[in-house]
Amino acid sequence: MDSLSKLQAVVFGASGYSGSELLALLHNHAYIQVTHAFASERSSAMPWARIAPQLAGTSDLVIEPFTGDTDVLANVDLAFLALPHEASAELAPKLLAQGIAVFDLSGAYRFADADLFAQTYGFVHPFPGLLAQATYCLAEHLNANSFQDIALYSIPGCYPTAATLALAPVCESAFLDPATVPVVTAISGVSGAGRAANLRTSFCEVSVQAYGVFNHRHRPEIARNLATDVVFTPILGPYPRGIVATCVAQLRGGVSAEMVLDAFQKAYADQPFVRLVHAPPAVQHVAYTPFCDLYVAVEGQQLIVIAALDNLLKGAASQAVQVANIVYGLPATTGFERFLGGVSARAAAVVDSGAAQHD
Ligand SMILES: NC(=O)c1ccc[n+]([C@@H]2O[C@H](COP(=O)([O-])OP(=O)(O)OC[C@H]3O[C@@H](n4cnc5c(N)ncnc54)[C@H](OP(=O)(O)O)[C@@H]3O)[C@@H](O)[C@H]2O)c1
Repeated sequence: MDSLSKLQAVVFGASGYSGSELLALLHNHAYIQVTHAFASERSSAMPWARIAPQLAGTSDLVIEPFTGDTDVLANVDLAFLALPHEASAELAPKLLAQGIAVFDLSGAYRFADADLFAQTYGFVHPFPGLLAQATYCLAEHLNANSFQDIALYSIPGCYPTAATLALAPVCESAFLDPATVPVVTAISGVSGAGRAANLRTSFCEVSVQAYGVFNHRHRPEIARNLATDVVFTPILGPYPRGIVATCVAQLRGGVSAEMVLDAFQKAYADQPFVRLVHAPPAVQHVAYTPFCDLYVAVEGQQLIVIAALDNLLKGAASQAVQVANIVYGLPATTGFERFLGGVSARAAAVVDSGAAQHD
């Protein structure tokens, strides 16, 4: 694609955490240009630089209230929806009807089954017929050649991205003991709950506390991705952003550490945003980056994989841009150049400094 004829994009939810990160990534994208950025109808028009000065740089982009009028989107090619699930569910078909490809960061189109959707998200989907038409897009698991007529791309949740990247290589290789269930315990920073004020996430209330025990909405998504039931316990942590997911599983007899490591190396050899690291990753290794760091340890038949990622980037906005790059046949690292310069040098240091923990 000629970078002079950029794809025209709109970002909905641009005043929120993930939406603002989308604007930052697309601000420097060689092939995609944001022509409209919207907040809800409740908000007044505001310069992006005022609400996200750390991200906006020199941009003079204005975020406008969205009135529901999609006629203003006449020349738009693609839309990113960083909206509450209900709002995404309602808006997506209107955009699709105008020929606009939709990249939805919410949970509105993550399940093909309407009953499972209602059970998981707590409301009846307004367009159940559309659920089966959406493609669930974990970037590392997409086939670049399978996007002929699809126009509704559902971006995974942040915890499912971490847990799936951590366990898919062993699940797909049938390395886990089928009589056991993987256990995923993941801590997330407070931005996972979005930008709106909320007592549970206010400064004086946040501690370290599990929530959604046995019933978090990301559990069925992880289980579907891995084709196995899973025990999932999320924990809210007292810091702004980043997830560390500790995934514990039992290997089948006969599966060795070498076989496990080989599966991970094969799965991620060509993936620029997944790094196999030699020491347990920390939030600060991945926060503000599009990377998922994976640490793999095996003792006998016990497997521990620890995944770390930024919930707003690899868990939301950067994954959406990765997916758009794949869908439009663009180079995988387009829009991520600034990370691949500075941050990868730091990442290399992380890998080299850790004592090897696995065979
Ligand atoms: N936060 C994460 O770590 C994360 C990770 C993965 C996926 N997600 C998903 O991504 C979506 C956005 O999450 P977020 O955390 O970025 O949210 P957020 O910070 O709370 O921002 C929500 C955005 O949506 C806008 N909005 C709210 N209701 C709307 C409506 N009815 N119509 C149009 N716009 C509306 C808000 O505008 P106003 O400012 O005007 O209210 C704001 O721009 C959610 O579905 C979330 O589940 C979030």
